[in-house]
Amino acid sequence: MIAAKPFLKWAGGKSQLLTQLEPLFPKKFNGYHEPFVGSAAIFFHLYNLKRGGIFPTTVMKRVGLTDSNDELINCYKVIKSQVEDLIERLAKHAKKHSEDYYYRVRGWLPKDLASLERAARFIYLNKTCFNGLYRVNSKGQFNVPMGNYANPKILDADELRTASRALRGVSVVTTAYETVLQRVEKGDFIYFDPPYHPRSRTASFTSYTEDAFDRQHQFELSEVFKKLDEKGCFVMLSNSWTPDVLDLYRYRGYHFIAVHASRLINSNADRRGKIKELVVLNYDPERTEGGSMMSGKRKAVASGHDLRDKVVAIGEKLQLDVRTEVKVGKRLWGASRLIDVVMTDKTTRKALGIECKFQEGGGSVDEKIPTTINDIGAWPISGIVVLGGKGFREHLRSYLYSTGKAVDIEDLDDWLKLYFGL
Ligand SMILES: C[S@@+](CC[C@H](N)C(=O)[O-])C[C@H]1O[C@@H](n2cnc3c(N)ncnc32)[C@H](O)[C@@H]1O
Repeated sequence: MIAAKPFLKWAGGKSQLLTQLEPLFPKKFNGYHEPFVGSAAIFFHLYNLKRGGIFPTTVMKRVGLTDSNDELINCYKVIKSQVEDLIERLAKHAKKHSEDYYYRVRGWLPKDLASLERAARFIYLNKTCFNGLYRVNSKGQFNVPMGNYANPKILDADELRTASRALRGVSVVTTAYETVLQRVEKGDFIYFDPPYHPRSRTASFTSYTEDAFDRQHQFELSEVFKKLDEKGCFVMLSNSWTPDVLDLYRYRGYHFIAVHASRLINSNADRRGKIKELVVLNYDPERTEGGSMMSGKRKAVASGHDLRDKVVAIGEKLQLDVRTEVKVGKRLWGASRLIDVVMTDKTTRKALGIECKFQEGGGSVDEKIPTTINDIGAWPISGIVVLGGKGFREHLRSYLYSTGKAVDIEDLDDWLKLYFGL
């Protein structure tokens, strides 16, 4: 039996990343949902793993594959229920293939075709067009030119039959990704592979559907991620490794994993190369039993003292000179002004003052932090506030980070390395 695999070429397809992504899947889960399914590289791989006995039989009894591209989803539906008819139609396209024929078929309008013919046209164009791109004009008409292939493989009957078997019992629906929230149950695994946030303003960006996936969409997706996390699901997301995307997921205690992909950046071969991409997980992939729900929890810091001890330990581990309760002048009424922790690089003598702020539950420490940040401005050395505990409200926390003067204890190690150039 051949392994199931994508039968389409798809921008951002995950086939080349499977060996890096596989160790990151939860070890056990219930249902599986892929709301940006594209060519379904991950679903087919999970299916193969399950068939190979890697997952318990209870895994993936419910599977939902969705995408906003109706032409794509129609294809899955036809493969699922009419694979032999589809093979027949594709064989006809393969026989007739020529430049002239390509442009004729491209000119057909999906709305005038029955679903079987639509699926055959879609696969035929995908196999013969330039780079397997999917792009439509403002009227929704497919407008990619023909690719330059001497002998394109238009039909692989076994591949389609295997895909058809894999899709048995799977629900395939055209819908926007956020509707996944209505379908999931606790213990389900959701893999998000959205159109990536561009790495730079000038980076080429492929719009898969008529509506591009912009910053607002990226933000809304991070909110859906969080809601799924709170429901007790295992959530995994791929995106570009960019400051904007990292910021969307950073402060909720999720795991960030780097994977490396060879991406065709543009048609210029010189610009191909390994690109660092981001995977966000709300569970610990090392755990063998069922992962561990993070539910937005960061590692526990028990008290203000504990926070300060942790700050000191991080500084010492980095071999900085660490002193606590350092006097820096007097306040207006004569009381000493103290800095919680001062760290100094033993060689360069570069110094940093740290104010530790702990908040466990609904208090109001966070509201006072802007004043603290202001006070830090009067110190004779640079300073930051380090936050610990789960009690900070998300919005205020984001605001504090945006000042560049507040750092979460979880990020302090990295932050200090950057600051001191270690
Ligand atoms: C990066 S691709 C997914 C690639 C897929 N993982 C694979 O291996 O081929 C992103 C997919 O998201 C779909 N998409 C874009 N916007 C969407 C939205 N708002 N809701 C659902 N799907 C969307 C696109 O049609 C495209 O198939």
